[in-house]
Amino acid sequence: MAIEIIATGRAIPPTRLTNDDLAMKLDTSDEWIRSHTGICARHIADEDTACSNLALEAARQALTMVVQQEGGSGNETQDLVDVALTLDVIILGTATPDYLGCPSTACVVQDKLGARNAAALDITAGCSGFIYGLEIAAGLLGTGSRRKRALVIGSEILSRFVDWTDRGMCILFGDGAGAAIVEKTENPGLTKRGLLRTILGADGSGTEHLIMRRGGSRNPYKTGELVGVPPHIEMNGQAVYNFAVKRVTETIEKLLSQENITIDDVSRIVPHQANARIVQAAGKRLGIPEEKFFLNIKEYANTSAASIPIALDELNRAGSLQKGDLIMTIGFGGGLTYGGNLIIW
Ligand code: UT7
Repeated sequence: MAIEIIATGRAIPPTRLTNDDLAMKLDTSDEWIRSHTGICARHIADEDTACSNLALEAARQALTMVVQQEGGSGNETQDLVDVALTLDVIILGTATPDYLGCPSTACVVQDKLGARNAAALDITAGCSGFIYGLEIAAGLLGTGSRRKRALVIGSEILSRFVDWTDRGMCILFGDGAGAAIVEKTENPGLTKRGLLRTILGADGSGTEHLIMRRGGSRNPYKTGELVGVPPHIEMNGQAVYNFAVKRVTETIEKLLSQENITIDDVSRIVPHQANARIVQAAGKRLGIPEEKFFLNIKEYANTSAASIPIALDELNRAGSLQKGDLIMTIGFGGGLTYGGNLIIW
């Protein structure tokens, strides 16, 4: 048995906000943002777009890829519904859901896709959401289960939760969604395929380093002002940076040693796109050439749980992932959480 990614999709809002656009409103510059983060632009959803809208678009793209592989009837709408009906579970990683707690954004997506046979749940693992989601999908589809197909999505509208007057924060984030269809395939041969190994971790002592205080049961929304409780995400950038470099380095080492392979066996590392300097620092510590890491942070900035599936879809659609390639994902985020997957494409 193998758990394979058979299709991918992504949704990027058309509105593009460059560093120069930001520099017109804030005390910052294109030079500072590029040199400290590798970011040149980010895409921002319009007011009417919620997390589920981007998730839905990415999911439809992935489902369309399945239709193309399986050969549909030619009636696009019906073909999409037919493939959606083959989904057994929808898992959506996000820090910026449509609604707080209930209903899950995954349920909104399930309804709009017409995926009536799918269970649906959101997971809160910050920017590690997609890495966690793949492993949860593998568990739900695993040996003995009758479930066969999962849709794993990372979707975020971070622009709605950042303080646009804070130059240390707002320059970092963008909106977007990425999706993958994961399928259990029988693998009677000896060749290894699909999701090979996953490492997941968390360090709850870092909850304060990346936090959205308002709106939960600790500081519920009520009429009137919540004095002292900011309405946006707060971050201790330095602490997250240090955590990220340490955990990314450790997780890459562990994935390689547990699988008894070297970095030369890995075709591509697809890291969470938070800051190009984090990736460069981890790569330097481990002696990994920079070209091994796929970076698209320049165009999209940090899209949290969406960043890895967006990157996977870009590579996939560009034909840069060959069957049999060993791909490593690696990430970290609010929680604090971290993890990585090894996948044979
Ligand atoms: O998905 C996980 C989410 N979060 C992360 O991954 C964040 C990880 N952390 C980081 O990426 C980095 O810590 C930042 C990019 C957030 C900050 O970079 P830094 O090199 O650690 O800068 P800093 O916070 O130490 O600030 C250095 C200086 C400060 O000025 P002073 O006090 O030295 O005069 C800041 O006020 O840079 C200033 N600064 C800026 N200047 C121009 C901070 N933001 C900006 C800005 N433009 N946008």
